[in-house]
Amino acid sequence: MNLILLGPPGAGKGTQAKMLVETYQIPQISTGDILRAAVKDGTTLGKEARSYMDKGQLVPDSVVIGIVEERLQQPDCKTGYMLDGFPRTVPQAEALDGMLQNLGSEIDHVVSIEVDNEELVKRLTGRRTCRECGAGFHVMFDPPKQEGVCDKCGGELYQRDDDNVETVTSRLQVYESQTMPLIDYYKTQGKVRPIEGVGEIKEVFNRVTQVLS
Ligand code: AP5
Ligand code: MG
Repeated sequence: MNLILLGPPGAGKGTQAKMLVETYQIPQISTGDILRAAVKDGTTLGKEARSYMDKGQLVPDSVVIGIVEERLQQPDCKTGYMLDGFPRTVPQAEALDGMLQNLGSEIDHVVSIEVDNEELVKRLTGRRTCRECGAGFHVMFDPPKQEGVCDKCGGELYQRDDDNVETVTSRLQVYESQTMPLIDYYKTQGKVRPIEGVGEIKEVFNRVTQVLS
């Protein structure tokens, strides 16, 4: 199964993706995670990406398209994959269609997670992520057993640099202007599966798996 997880910053794409990986045994491909790893490693890609990410702007299409093209050719994508945070612009979606055509593959479902802006700001400003294993938490909605420590691996929890109110506001604007048009793009292809994203994490997960089955 080849999926796209679409939705605004904080909608729960990463949270749901980690649960879907277990259920469907397909890899999560998060362009945000790949870019953050490059920033952390201080690579040329990381240095370029950082200047956009810190402002809540999108990294140029050519850069992310190249990353995904390479990733989709890895052997673990042969039985399916989940794209989290890609595509994010119409040119990215068109490039993806071209890549998949070359690979003789196509997207089955575009899971579009819907959450209102007020809730998104609360989720993003309270998010904490494990430095070691990448597990996600929330100080109020999904708190770890011990503050600052990952339940799964004992790693240190940190707050993402782009999760402050100012950058979040800019990310939400960028989503509306550049990414929302993709909903119509994929509606035309008959692939959009809208999901109500407000509710318990498990409840949202049940909605997603129901739509996919
Ligand atoms: P990226 O990392 O993709 O960030 P994003 O799209 O802004 O989305 P988030 O990761 O912030 O949110 P999420 O939907 O994954 O939410 P989560 O599950 O963590 O991109 C970051 C940056 O990289 C971009 O700004 C851009 O610069 C660059 N970039 C990446 N991809 C790009 C591309 N394709 N093109 C160009 N640039 C690109 O949940 C959030 C919080 O809410 C967590 O704390 C979680 O515990 C909590 N939560 C989750 N579900 C629920 C629930 N049901 N109820 C209550 N709380 C919940
Ligand atoms: Mg994410």
